[in-house]
Amino acid sequence: MDRIYITTPLYYVNAEPHLGHTYTTVVADTLKRYYQSLGFEAFMLTGTDEHGDKIAQAAHAAGTTPNAYADQISHRFRVTWDNCGIAYDHFIRTTDAYHKNYVQKFLQKIYDQGDIYFGEYGGFYCYGCERFYTEKELIDGKCPDHQKAPDFISEKNYFFRMGKYQERLIQAIQSNPALIRPEHYRTEVLASLREPLEDLCISRPASRLQWGIPLPFDANYVTYVWFDALLNYVSALEHRGRDSMLTLWPKANHLIAKDILKPHAVYWPTMLMAAGLPLYEHLNVHGYWVVDSGKMSKSLGNVIRPLEMKARFGMDAFRYFLLREMPFGQDAKFSEEALVTRINADLANNLGNLVSRVLAMEQKYFGGLVQPLSSTQTAEDRDLQAKFAWAEKAREDYMRDLQFHRALEALWSALDQANRYIVQTAPFTLIKDPAKESRVGEVLHHLLESLRMLSRLLAPFLPDTSKELLVLLGISDEGAVRDSSLNRSLEAPWGRFFEHGHKVKGPKVLFPRIEIPAEA
Ligand code: MSP
Repeated sequence: MDRIYITTPLYYVNAEPHLGHTYTTVVADTLKRYYQSLGFEAFMLTGTDEHGDKIAQAAHAAGTTPNAYADQISHRFRVTWDNCGIAYDHFIRTTDAYHKNYVQKFLQKIYDQGDIYFGEYGGFYCYGCERFYTEKELIDGKCPDHQKAPDFISEKNYFFRMGKYQERLIQAIQSNPALIRPEHYRTEVLASLREPLEDLCISRPASRLQWGIPLPFDANYVTYVWFDALLNYVSALEHRGRDSMLTLWPKANHLIAKDILKPHAVYWPTMLMAAGLPLYEHLNVHGYWVVDSGKMSKSLGNVIRPLEMKARFGMDAFRYFLLREMPFGQDAKFSEEALVTRINADLANNLGNLVSRVLAMEQKYFGGLVQPLSSTQTAEDRDLQAKFAWAEKAREDYMRDLQFHRALEALWSALDQANRYIVQTAPFTLIKDPAKESRVGEVLHHLLESLRMLSRLLAPFLPDTSKELLVLLGISDEGAVRDSSLNRSLEAPWGRFFEHGHKVKGPKVLFPRIEIPAEA
């Protein structure tokens, strides 16, 4: 059986789940559902990253301990993903005992083989990023992300001999064009590797920071941030058993935004090389969501919270917007206006109208009973069918490259064709002529087939809508799309699904139009 292992970053517990976290997590969920529908065994991992200065400081500011603080925010992430219907298989916390053990085991192994040494280091340290910067990486002497001049810190610490793996890393990226994708991120990484790769500082003195994992070979130091967090991708699998490590790990597809490209494209593969583990299959890197005014921040009051979006617009509508609006790999702008425009145009109008028109006619003309097809087809019938076959193929091609927006665009172009087919065939006029009743029945049969196709093809993107469509089509009471036998029968060829006597339900508004207040 084909397998895929999909991961999100482990989110820091110093902020609550927002638009950016939601995008990566929704993409992971969509991929998981998509591959499952193709018959893959798909495993999705998400979780929280809980050690480090930032968290300790946030806990202190909130008047609590790092432990209690991390518990609280980590729980909020988990509850948020549950309420958003995210189908993760495992939620990992870097404070989980099995993860800490794994990190220590990993450190000890590469320490024993001589890949970790003790040395003195002075460098520009950004507390926001929790990492040292080289002078070259700073812009006007400031951290490019936090726009703040980093502190110069000099202290004795442990280092991972990352530089030793530079050539092997370049080789691995060059020989595997899809290791890091889209291409421009791969190019960026390769360009950065033209400079000598420095060793990586992996510890902090416990005297300065206790909220980390103690080094197994020196209790005066803790490790945290990347040497801790990155290992989650394998510690979680090891926790699930040997088989997962063997079969799933080489199929790892990481999803991240460009902010954490270097740790995932440079630190992580060299750590894997040091441990003698295979590299991930793909590092999938997306761009940044920016809100009208720029970066989201609590102080600017422009944080987009997923559960608020769900409550106001519905989860599927929010998912649709995220997946349709951002070309994977590029930045995108979030605005409520754009969200509402998309919901009204694509969901309320195009999809919603199609569903309600078809079901209303079927109900009105035939009491919901699906009519038989004759052996002859008109050019319009054939075109409609061909368009859906094309859309299915296009969806596959685009999904292979994570072009979610294009996959949806293709599905919507089939959907548009179904709307056009109604205009071309005009069942509402034909029905006035009793001699044409059987043709009207056929036309509606073809349209119901379009809806069946849509419920199947849209399922990874809009899981609730897809289930609701199945209910409306009388295919399932509770829309159990995940049931694999139903999934297979849903793949029945066009015209071969609805049996004699099959009854569909009456129309329903799937996506109410959102009225934009006049002053907006
Ligand atoms: N804890 C580290 C990751 C460790 S992974 C082993 C971390 N955490 S984070 O909370 O800052 O999450 C960063 C990730 O959140 C991004 O890579 C991306 O997945 C998501 N996003 C956060 N803000 C975002 C946007 N504005 N736009 C898109 N995604 C962003 O880094």
